[in-house]
Amino acid sequence: MTERLLYVEGLSVSFDGFKALDISYFGLNERELRVVIGPNGAGKTTFMDVLCGKTKPDTGKALLRDRDLLQMDEKGIVDLGVGRKFQTPSVFGSLTVFENLLLARKADRGIFRSLFGTLAGSERDKLVAVSETVGLAQELDLSAGLLSHGQKQWLEIGMLLVMEPDLMLIDEPAAGMTDEETHKTGELLKALSKERSVIVIEHDMEFVRQLDSLVTVLCEGRVLTEGTMEKVQNDPAVIEQYLGRAREKKKEESRA
Ligand SMILES: Nc1ncnc2c1ncn2[C@@H]1O[C@H](COP(=O)(O)OP(=O)(O)OP(=O)(O)O)[C@@H](O)[C@H]1O
Ligand SMILES: [Mg+2]
Repeated sequence: MTERLLYVEGLSVSFDGFKALDISYFGLNERELRVVIGPNGAGKTTFMDVLCGKTKPDTGKALLRDRDLLQMDEKGIVDLGVGRKFQTPSVFGSLTVFENLLLARKADRGIFRSLFGTLAGSERDKLVAVSETVGLAQELDLSAGLLSHGQKQWLEIGMLLVMEPDLMLIDEPAAGMTDEETHKTGELLKALSKERSVIVIEHDMEFVRQLDSLVTVLCEGRVLTEGTMEKVQNDPAVIEQYLGRAREKKKEESRA
């Protein structure tokens, strides 16, 4: 049986009278991977901002299981098990990969006393396991500043993972990555969603195809359609509003 993790209804956000988000319904199951696509300014990031408590909506409901996210602050939402990754990576470059993971763990547990206090073996094992999951086991002692852009993104995903979230919100993870890094990221996200739910915002259609999950198309703040990539990419409204434009843009870029 699939159980619902997230239930969103009538969610709207306005900025100075401009409606950036207007989602009548959005549902996500436990251990579901969902991709959100849509043109620039469609409201994708704003949707994540609302789910993690960064932006307060004007109207609507957002329930995680039976808990009302809109009544909670950002910290409360993290504690409830929602982890958010922003568009640009923000790791501590002068600390090692291991120290970055440790810091995320300690921040989550509220034990900030010292970075290098005694660490239980089981805690260390957990961090090492996370580094293996995100493909950084060989880089544990390397300064994070020396990682490639893709590796920094993976480290940040690792820093979310140590908090053991039930829902991960990941904004454009593949932006700026090489093809190989993009592919690895896709496999990582698919693996992660076997144990928790993941919402990914993405523009790279090749990557979206690889994720092989349900796709929600946002446009001007609304859900334009939802379905498999196959269904969505053949939807005339999607082609008109988004894919057509994206293709034109790509053509222009390749001409430039
Ligand atoms: N804090 C803000 N104040 C005013 N307007 C905002 C704010 N945040 C977002 N917007 C506007 O809301 C709309 C939706 O923005 P949002 O960043 O959610 O789009 P997006 O789908 O993530 O786009 P992109 O693909 O470019 O990242 C845009 O028109 C944007 O300019
Ligand atoms: Mg965005």
